[in-house]
Amino acid sequence: MARLTAPELLKMKAAGEKIAMVTAYDFSMARLMDRGGADMVLVGDSLGMVFQGESDTLRVTLEEMAYHGRCVARALERAHLTIDMPFMSYQLSPTQALQNAGRLVQEGRAQAVKLEGGVRTAPAIRACVEAGIPVVGHVGLTPQSVHAFGGFKIQGRDDDAARRIRDDALAVQDAGAFCIVLEMIPAALAAELTSLLTIPTIGIGAGSGCDGQVLVCNDLLGMDERFKPRFVKRFAELAQTVAAAGSAYVAEVKAGTFPAAEHGFDNSGRVYGGGK
Ligand code: KIV
Repeated sequence: MARLTAPELLKMKAAGEKIAMVTAYDFSMARLMDRGGADMVLVGDSLGMVFQGESDTLRVTLEEMAYHGRCVARALERAHLTIDMPFMSYQLSPTQALQNAGRLVQEGRAQAVKLEGGVRTAPAIRACVEAGIPVVGHVGLTPQSVHAFGGFKIQGRDDDAARRIRDDALAVQDAGAFCIVLEMIPAALAAELTSLLTIPTIGIGAGSGCDGQVLVCNDLLGMDERFKPRFVKRFAELAQTVAAAGSAYVAEVKAGTFPAAEHGFDNSGRVYGGGK
């Protein structure tokens, strides 16, 4: 089965077909999300928080993004692969952005890269697009600017802030991005941007009026029982399931009931008890 491409994803907006994007950082998760029918898999720099246990995304490196990209790329059959450009890998100049986007394509096997920011990031987006690298934009709450925002807070609530986000989204589209993430903005503003733009909008904490949605895989699976922001819906409660499986394993090891005969081998290589 062939992977979805940027032009095919762009056409989904015109066809009124919703786009389901999800993050993944490793082979096993990417394989399951691909099997579940995700249209786009994002190796997000959220890996700094959910995979590495940091309190923000700011210390993630380009090498780490490329490494996780390769792991995920091996698993995907149908889903399109986008990789985030980490903090300070594109802010210095369009040349720096293009060089590092190229590395994520070559070393991380990205089909597209995602850059945060609007008007100020447009020259970097344009440089990548002109070199043939598809770009996903990201406006609203851009986590790499967490210190400037004073925390992970909803953006675009007053008229001025909403106007800036509108200008940012238009700049991203004009620079040639084929798709844009709208994070943590009021639902009405996200719906307005979705009508205004010709490229698909992918929302997270931006209401149902977007062309698609994205969630962090660990959040939708309920992998951290302590983390339940308003915009997350848990489609499973894996924290309990995984912890229960872990303690069942520990209990059996301690009791000596695991491994049983059928989990071992005799000298011939056959399993004790006659199996293979
Ligand atoms: O890093 C990330 O996972 C993201 C998504 C939440 C959009 O940017």
